[in-house]
Amino acid sequence: MRVAIVGSGGREHALCFKIKQSPLCSELYCIPGNAGTEEIAKNIAISGEDIEGVVNFAKQNGIDFVVVGPENPLAKGIVDELRKVGTNAFGPTKEAAIIEASKSFTKSFLKKYKIPTADYETFDNFDKAKEYVLKRGAPIVVKADGLAAGKGVTVAKSVDEALEALKEIFIDRRFGSAGDRVVLEEFLEGEEASFLVFSDGDNILPMIAAQDHKPIYDGDKGPNTGGMGAYAPAPIVDKDMREFITENIMKRAIDGLKKEGKPYKGVLYAGLMIKDGKPYVLEFNCRFGDPETQAILPLLESDILDVMLECSTGSIKNITLKWREAFAVCVVLASGGYPKAYEKGKIINGLDRAEQLEDVIVFHAGTKRDNNGNIITNGGRVLNVVGIDREFKKAQEKAYSAIKLINFENMHYRKDIGNKAYKYL
Ligand code: AMP
Ligand code: GLY
Repeated sequence: MRVAIVGSGGREHALCFKIKQSPLCSELYCIPGNAGTEEIAKNIAISGEDIEGVVNFAKQNGIDFVVVGPENPLAKGIVDELRKVGTNAFGPTKEAAIIEASKSFTKSFLKKYKIPTADYETFDNFDKAKEYVLKRGAPIVVKADGLAAGKGVTVAKSVDEALEALKEIFIDRRFGSAGDRVVLEEFLEGEEASFLVFSDGDNILPMIAAQDHKPIYDGDKGPNTGGMGAYAPAPIVDKDMREFITENIMKRAIDGLKKEGKPYKGVLYAGLMIKDGKPYVLEFNCRFGDPETQAILPLLESDILDVMLECSTGSIKNITLKWREAFAVCVVLASGGYPKAYEKGKIINGLDRAEQLEDVIVFHAGTKRDNNGNIITNGGRVLNVVGIDREFKKAQEKAYSAIKLINFENMHYRKDIGNKAYKYL
């Protein structure tokens, strides 16, 4: 079967790596991919945001199955468009992707289906929102309703900070129409976890829980990024909590979406805050997480392509996922300047040596090959170095030893990825 993956990040390299292992996959394409996917798939120079381009490519090249990585094409309806031309695809329809694309929809959905989440109110103008902030005080969380490339949420420590965030959204229109509405949410203090499930619209298959590290600096300091590292399985989610999340969050969400006439097929990702031992939904995403996927998929022993096909056109009812008994720790290597304006075009050294290490995988994100055959930096998050071992500490050490072999000018990374796990091990 001819499979194409849409996207160009570390998540998509991990998807290519895993799908390539399937005996069902005869040819693999990545649209547009990076220097890492180029080694195992054929990169196609079409933007993942160009829905028409992707659909035409799939049609003209007899692609049997398209797997969509990022949220933007999903929210714009890429799966619906592919199905219209008879191409099978993995991911939710535009209607179901609303679970990520509109925070106000999701908050009222959570309330309706009694899924635990923070208290909130929705506003469509500055004055009313300001009044509410003055009444409630800080800390308070300000969320632009629509997709804002991970930048639409401000955890405001003071009333002034909350009002500034509201001004940016409603008056400066920083996020355009994604800021037509705002969710103001109660601040929850706790530890975050990412919980992903496969769904065929009726049934779910939970993956191992993961933990992301969003802030740029060690100790969770500094501004948020797309994610500076992740590990799985995250021991904060023990057996009982896993059961609770599966039954009271994920199953309720999939059942609820079906009742709302938006059956959900694909991967549903819950961003959770665990407060006093109880999980609350901060957000849903309509896709795999990045960098969580780079820590989760290397531990999956089942045939991912088979699972994805059953999600899209069959049933996963009789499937159980098999996992390697080990931990994976993924550390992101970023470009100088990231998460603000960053440099590109720096030559990356040492990849070959790092990749040769046992139980180390290097997934590429912002990389490309220059005209001389060098692999150079081409994005903010550049590489994901994953170490795997039965012992958590050794998995972490494997990732950090591999990183010592890799360098590019002004490379930086967090030195504490995974440290949060120790108190639960
Ligand atoms: P979201 O995109 O809604 O997941 O928000 C992005 C990040 O903001 C989350 O990963 C949390 O770190 C933080 N956040 C969101 N909502 C809350 C909340 N209610 N309380 C505390 N932190 C939050
Ligand atoms: N790791 C956060 C995300 O994928 O949204």
